[in-house]
Amino acid sequence: MKKIFDEYICFIENTLKQFSYKNKLGLQSSIANAMDYSLEAGGKRIRPVLVFAFCNMCGGNYIEAAAPAAAIEMIHTFSLIHDDLPCMDNDDFRRGKPSCHKQFGEACAVLAGDALAIRPFQIISESGLKDNIKIKLINELSYSSGVEGMIGGQIIDMENEQRSNISQENLRTMYALKTGMLIKASCVMGCITAEATDEQVKNAKEYADCLGLAFQIIDDILDVTGDEQTLGKPIGSDTEENKTTFVTLYGIDGAREEAARLTGKAMEILDRFNNNEFLKDLTKYLLDRNY
Ligand code: IPE
Ligand code: IPE
Ligand code: MG
Ligand code: MG
Ligand code: MG
Repeated sequence: MKKIFDEYICFIENTLKQFSYKNKLGLQSSIANAMDYSLEAGGKRIRPVLVFAFCNMCGGNYIEAAAPAAAIEMIHTFSLIHDDLPCMDNDDFRRGKPSCHKQFGEACAVLAGDALAIRPFQIISESGLKDNIKIKLINELSYSSGVEGMIGGQIIDMENEQRSNISQENLRTMYALKTGMLIKASCVMGCITAEATDEQVKNAKEYADCLGLAFQIIDDILDVTGDEQTLGKPIGSDTEENKTTFVTLYGIDGAREEAARLTGKAMEILDRFNNNEFLKDLTKYLLDRNY
């Protein structure tokens, strides 16, 4: 797995550099610095890796997925910049560095997030992909980032800080939206680029539903058990912001059991695909991650 993983990481890092505005702007250059600062290495790049892996597994060539992979990482980075703002999770540390608003001030961080939310649609529309593929990618990305996706999940997360007795159903919906939808979009955009069959897309979505939920549950666990330097972001943030999480509802062991169960289900779904070795290894690795 490591060799392919490293190849994917190398390709996404180069692709992101290629899409940078560095030295291309005049008076607006400070926003390019803030966008690059937050996008720079330090992120795990799991979403681009999922785009590439699904593209390859469905018979495509991952090199052709450069634009959708960069696009999803930009949207994800925008979500992190805004997530860290004082009016949201109020976290000062991200990807091993001061958060964007700590480094550049709140106004610039808000605008850098906005710019990273819009740039992906420009990149996909200007890519060399076929028009029908571009439209499907843009539709998938806008749907999963918006109110029916990540942003919808984030508002539930914010409002839950004021609620008591949050149900498991509420929590699952919030996770499926705030984290699950961008993970699902990553898998689906890989399929779209490879012109996968409807059956493959359906299976990719089912897989991503399990992986996305497991991923957020592990994130909750790491907020309690993780090491700040390794994680590159503060621990204890959820307690500080009065979040209800899988850990507060079921304890560390209960949360871990649920993440393991979901990972098992995700692995079974991967059995429906040929050439699934890389994704199987990645899925297991994500359950055991410590950052
Ligand atoms: C953090 O995502 C936010 C969640 C949705 C849980 P990642 O754990 O993928 O963060 P980076 O990209 O590696 O920084
Ligand atoms: C992240 O949830 C969801 C996003 C859409 C950014 P968290 O708030 O738990 O993510 P971290 O722990 O700050 O990375
Ligand atoms: Mg948050
Ligand atoms: Mg947060
Ligand atoms: Mg978290």
